[in-house]
Amino acid sequence: MATQQTRREFLENSMFAAAAAVAGSAMLPQFQPTVRAAGANERIGMAVIGTRGRGGEHISEWVKHYPECEITAICDIDDGVLGKSVERIEKASGKKPEGYRDIRKLLEDKSVDAVSIATPNHWHSLAAIWAIQAGKDVYVEKPVSHNVSEGRRVVEAARKHEKICQTGTQCRSMQGTIDAIEFIKAGKIGEVKLARGLCYKPRGSIGPKGNYEVPAGIDYDLWSGPAPVKPLTRKQFHYDWHWQWDYGNGDLGNQGIHQMDIARWGLGVDTLGQGVLSYGGRLSYEDAGETANTQVNIHDYGDKTLVFEVRGLKTSDYKGANVGVIFHGSAGYVVLTSYTGGAAFDLDGKMTTKFSGNGDHFGNFLKAVRSRKQTDLAADILEGHLSSALCHLGNISYRLGKQMSVPAAKEALSGNKVKDEAVQTFDRVTQHLSDNKVDLDQTQLQFGAMLSLAPGGETFRGQGSEQANTMLTRDYRAPFVVPATKDL
Ligand SMILES: NC(=O)c1ccc[n+]([C@@H]2O[C@H](COP(=O)([O-])OP(=O)(O)OC[C@H]3O[C@@H](n4cnc5c(N)ncnc54)[C@H](O)[C@@H]3O)[C@@H](O)[C@H]2O)c1
Repeated sequence: MATQQTRREFLENSMFAAAAAVAGSAMLPQFQPTVRAAGANERIGMAVIGTRGRGGEHISEWVKHYPECEITAICDIDDGVLGKSVERIEKASGKKPEGYRDIRKLLEDKSVDAVSIATPNHWHSLAAIWAIQAGKDVYVEKPVSHNVSEGRRVVEAARKHEKICQTGTQCRSMQGTIDAIEFIKAGKIGEVKLARGLCYKPRGSIGPKGNYEVPAGIDYDLWSGPAPVKPLTRKQFHYDWHWQWDYGNGDLGNQGIHQMDIARWGLGVDTLGQGVLSYGGRLSYEDAGETANTQVNIHDYGDKTLVFEVRGLKTSDYKGANVGVIFHGSAGYVVLTSYTGGAAFDLDGKMTTKFSGNGDHFGNFLKAVRSRKQTDLAADILEGHLSSALCHLGNISYRLGKQMSVPAAKEALSGNKVKDEAVQTFDRVTQHLSDNKVDLDQTQLQFGAMLSLAPGGETFRGQGSEQANTMLTRDYRAPFVVPATKDL
């Protein structure tokens, strides 16, 4: 028989609940989890963290979804950017959001049900985990991590706290891409053993390495967060962090992650594979950037291979694609040339099917926030983690590499018994470098370590694994530390 709760019992129960919440949060002293869950008709309180380039687009996307959601707060460590973003939202919606500089303060805001994160990469996982611990659902930009281990922590946190966590790989919501992947998986181009991701996106020098002043209005300590606080060596403060290892992951983890994700999706592989090898260089100019502007990754999946090419110098396309993915099947091939589509061809190169169509990745997130079903997400965090991790593996191999002459690198590649396809890719890359007037007689390539992965796992084994395994994580700068699994 149901008993009527007295006011006193209610208060006592509430006090126990509050005490339990405090005890539970002892490991995470900074957050009291938000208890409010968005009901079917309730407006979802959104917050955008990092509001400049992509974060500005997040703002536009959430505003499009009013009144289903409302941006109640935003956060940026750059006062100038923060002020402009607050103003923009007020103008667009008639309501001024709360502006925060420190993500930890924003996460205490009870009006916020969910956050979307568009900070630089080195903040993504920690911000996502803190938000999840604070009881928020999360939309986190790609790559979801700056290293393999922290990406896995986000997946674990989302599962443990039963939070919705979407990856910002919007191609996963695009009808043209979805149709193409279904076409491939239905066997319409036969057996697919090779996927080739392309990030052919010419980018120039970012200027000489120097001692630059952090612009006024920026909280550099907060910007650095989990990374060491180092003197600023690049001219442009924002965006160009992509090309410095402490914060970014090169174009592989910038543009490339979208195509890496599609390539892995179409191949139907949901592990990190058996091994990885990467080679390339930052060629043709010297600047403050550190990441490769020319890079090939070969991910070995046993009977399948994923080859990923980054070209940051001027280039022509490959089979009609610059930024795209090519799936090679036994009965034809599919070329995806944009986020929203592409076409299928038979083995003679005759087009057989076209794929096109847009989608609403942000709307998909809001839908899942309401349904509370992770399976409603187009790009659940696990997918984001696996694809981001592939980029990190490539960069680990690359960074552990040795400088080698072009003939020595080719010899090493052939000696490693990688598939013919990889050797052909090498020849195309050297041709491309020569077209860009890179002197191949004088140039050393960075030839990466051939690394093996523990079966089904996310660690290296065998030769070179000791050093490589240390690169699966980073030294975090307290208090910006990604928690261990037991502390999530
Ligand atoms: N999905 C896509 O198509 C897409 C497109 C572009 C960028 N992105 C991703 O979005 C992210 C941001 O890229 P961007 O080009 O806008 O970079 P950006 O450097 O121009 O902007 C980052 C913003 O984050 C702010 N910021 C930094 N640390 C912060 C912190 N701790 N708390 C709050 N704000 C902080 C900065 O002040 C800046 O305003 C990147 O990770 C990038 O990979 C995704």
